[in-house]
Amino acid sequence: MSDVLPVPVSSRESGDSAAFIAALPKAELHLHIEGTLEPELMFALAERNGIRLPYSSVEELRSAYRFSNLQDFLDIYYAGAGALVEMQDFYDLTWAYLQRAFTQNVRHVEIFFDPQTHTGRGVEFATVVDGINRALVDAEARLGINSRLILCFLRHLDEADALETLDAAMAYRDRIAGVGLDSSERGNPPGKFREVFRRARAAGFVAVAHAGEEGPAEYVREALDVLEVVRIDHGNNALDDAGLVAELVRRRIPLTVCPLSNVKLRVVDDIRDHPLKRMLNLGLFVTVNSDDPAYFGGYVNENYIAVAEALGLSREDLRQLARNSFEASWLDAEAKSALIAEVDAVMQTER
Ligand code: HPA
Ligand code: ZN
Repeated sequence: MSDVLPVPVSSRESGDSAAFIAALPKAELHLHIEGTLEPELMFALAERNGIRLPYSSVEELRSAYRFSNLQDFLDIYYAGAGALVEMQDFYDLTWAYLQRAFTQNVRHVEIFFDPQTHTGRGVEFATVVDGINRALVDAEARLGINSRLILCFLRHLDEADALETLDAAMAYRDRIAGVGLDSSERGNPPGKFREVFRRARAAGFVAVAHAGEEGPAEYVREALDVLEVVRIDHGNNALDDAGLVAELVRRRIPLTVCPLSNVKLRVVDDIRDHPLKRMLNLGLFVTVNSDDPAYFGGYVNENYIAVAEALGLSREDLRQLARNSFEASWLDAEAKSALIAEVDAVMQTER
């Protein structure tokens, strides 16, 4: 573990939206830990583990980060995850992210991990969870960052594989708060995972799912009705169905929106076309998140800044987004209100 703790960015002296955003306490609710693997660490881990990456340098790897769609990205993301082998690798990965998050005033994070990406190449489930979890424990003690862990099933694999993964997770029931669904969305509807989600919910895991990123509004509805999720990850295409939007508003279902991811994966053509402001105006319960920050060009603050500048968000909008991030989290009511009070205090002092 590094002994050098980062210092939160102080922004009191400046009045622009970047400084205001930096000063806001935030929760991050849509973050794939494997998507925080920066090229420098990927190369260091590959060397440590004697693994050859299909790129000769950090620069060459970074220049491959031009994606036409979700699958283009996933191919590189799964290849990069191959550098993670030992428990220490998962620790180092997670600790590096948490230090970054600390510098951006992230107070709480609900982290996705993809065990099948690792067990499928012979890494034990325990190696993955123990490495990540040790870093989360250290982050709470040393950085004051709270966290929850969410196991994502890979939707391009079949349900039997997901059921085996759920069996492995049962021994870690106390360390894993929820289950999610990620990877290639098109052609892999939520209903494919009805039984594994039913069993997971029965065992006390809270359910979320990626839906409406590339898939249709119908997948968002299916995630709600069949998987009984409490949050939708992305959810952009829900906007195509006015009845669904009305239901999401009425039920206050949070959407974990990821603006820079949406641009990089061509879910939106340009950040100026991003629907976040429209979503806020519709009364949707939206939050801003970084998804896979090492691949998409920014951590959570850069995501807030990008939409603030491109969509002309007001300080009230930004405050709403930060409040929503805690409201939509799985923190208890007392922790939520304390953090929301801190958000409101920034509104008072940052003029
Ligand atoms: N969508 C689907 N699967 C993923 C993503 C995403 O944005 N990031 C990592 N796995
Ligand atoms: Zn995601």
